[in-house]
Order: sequence, then C-alpha cells, then structure tokens
Amino acid sequence: MRFDEFLSEVLYNSEKGYYFRKRIGEDYYTATSFEKLFSWTFGKYFIKLGIENILEIGFGEGHFAREVIEFYRLHKKNINYYVYERAKRGYINDVMHIDSIIQLRNFEGVIFQNEVLDAIEFRRFVFKNGSWYELYVKDMKEFYIQEIEDTEVLEYLPKEVNEGLIYDISIKALELLKSEYEILKRGFIVIVDYGYERREILERFPNGSLTCYYKHRILDNPFENLYEQDITYFIDFTLIKDFLKKLGMTLVVDKSQGEFLIENGVLDIAEFITRNMSEYERFKIFNKLKSLVLDFYNFRVLVFSKDFLV
Ligand SMILES: C[S@@+](CC[C@H](N)C(=O)[O-])C[C@H]1O[C@@H](n2cnc3c(N)ncnc32)[C@H](O)[C@@H]1O
Repeated sequence: MRFDEFLSEVLYNSEKGYYFRKRIGEDYYTATSFEKLFSWTFGKYFIKLGIENILEIGFGEGHFAREVIEFYRLHKKNINYYVYERAKRGYINDVMHIDSIIQLRNFEGVIFQNEVLDAIEFRRFVFKNGSWYELYVKDMKEFYIQEIEDTEVLEYLPKEVNEGLIYDISIKALELLKSEYEILKRGFIVIVDYGYERREILERFPNGSLTCYYKHRILDNPFENLYEQDITYFIDFTLIKDFLKKLGMTLVVDKSQGEFLIENGVLDIAEFITRNMSEYERFKIFNKLKSLVLDFYNFRVLVFSKDFLV
C-alpha cells in the first residue's frame, strides 16, 4: 500500500485510529493548551480584522474554539463559529458542527487551522538515478520503492535534488486547502503549523521529515507503536504559499508564531489574564508565554486573503 494509505489506517481508522482515540497532551502538546494566550491573541487579531464568522478545521478538543468565543463575548462582539473535525471526539457547545466544508459555500470570514496540515496523510518520494520513485509499505512493517503511478504529482516535487533524497508531501492537504479556497467568498485562510521553506526542508531532512510522537518522545520508525503514536512531517511552506497564490490568494502575513503573537498583543493578554493572580500563578503563566514564543521556534503563521483589503 502507499504510505498515505498506511497513515489513513493507523491515524484515521474510525475504531482504532490514533486521532480517534488519543487525547492531545498524551504524546505532544499543541499551542492551544497554553492558557488562552494563543487563542485570545488570535481572537484579538480576528476582531481587529472585523471578522464575525470563523470556520475552524480540525478543532481537536475545542480549546481554541471555546476560548475565542469567550474572548468575543468579553468584548461584546458577535461571532458565528463553525467547526469541522475529521476524527470526531465529541461535540462542544456554542459552535456549529458541520459534516463537510462544502456546507459552507460562499463563506465570508476566517478559515483557521492549527497543526492540521501536518496531521494529514502524506506520501514519500525518493530521488534515484535522476528520477522520482515512491515509497510504499509492505505488511505494515517496511518500506519498498515503486514507480510513481499518478505522474501529475511530479509537478509538486522539487526539481533538482541530491541522489537518495526523500521528500514528504501531502497531496490531500493541498486538496483540503483547495476546498477551503473554493468555499471562501471573501476573507482569510489562516494556517499555523511547523515547517520550513523548501530549501531548508531539503537541507535539514535529506531522509525526509517524517517524525513520530509517542509519550512525549520523538521517534523515527512509523512501523512501531502502530495506532499508538502520532506520525507527522514538516510542512514545506514554499509549496503551500505557491499553491495558494496560484489559486489566486494573497499572502498577507508570513511570520514566526512568536513574532505573530508578540505583534498582536500576547503580552497584554498575559497581563490581563494574570491581573488578579498570585505571584506564583503569574510566574507559571509567563513561563508558558515564554515557551509559546520561544519553544515553538519552527512554527509559522501564514494568513492568505481573498477579495479582502487589509
Ligand atoms: C494535531 S491535531 C490538532 C488539533 C487542534 N487544532 C489543536 O491545535 O489542538 C490535528 C487535528 O486535525 C484533524 N484533521 C486532520 N485532517 C483533517 C481534515 N481534513 N479535516 C478536518 N480535520 C482534520 C485531526 O483529526 C486532528 O484532530
């Protein structure tokens, strides 16, 4: 089977799949677990843009959604919050759950996703004797090399690379972005994720960027801990930017997560959250702030606009 089919099974099988069973925090944390610092800063940013409709893709356990709604209410702003989650792990209140993003045709507002693109099944290609081949999976336990069947994929692969290099790419993630673009009449697509520009991806990860997270350890064998570990890869931001620009979107923000949060007032948010706290509680929150800004060093915030002047 192709590697993305293997990932569909171990990550998204509706009974055994990793994302259907595991809770965030068991193997890794996301920025949405950081005491409203992340969510409220985005809330502030969305209010500044005049946004009333938000569609969150892959809302996970719903921290971000709940907190952004809370922030809007605190500021007496109107909000309609829609969520679409592929691995349904329960419903949250105050949002509209949708079963397919096509339900929101002609959407005006923000389509937001944090750490979703990296969680979508990816494929692995290897450059050998001057051509690209694909890595397939045998018996759920090892890779083997095969010719590429759908040569259209070649248009997304880097052109000049070293012999033996492995490049990881999710065509399905590009398809998701295309659907987001298609339902969006006017507004923004916001992507927060970890990765690098293409040149750096190729330099840093000659063996591919596949990474497994298991009990807060970083592992590299996707065939161990089947169904029990997260299997992910680093986003090639050059690919994502070229793809959305080609569709007709305009890139309006391209910043590290830390820079974005600082510029959009995370320090004021931290002051506000901690205003009635003890010194010790304040210390803990500011430590989280430090971690959110510094430890997530390879995370970026990309904002693309469609028919919207900023
Ligand atoms: C790493 S988790 C991040 C969850 C949440 N956004 C957060 O930051 O805590 C990735 C989530 O994206 C969801 N997901 C992956 N592909 C998706 C898709 N095509 N549409 C909707 N959700 C998706 C997964 O089920 C999973 O809940």
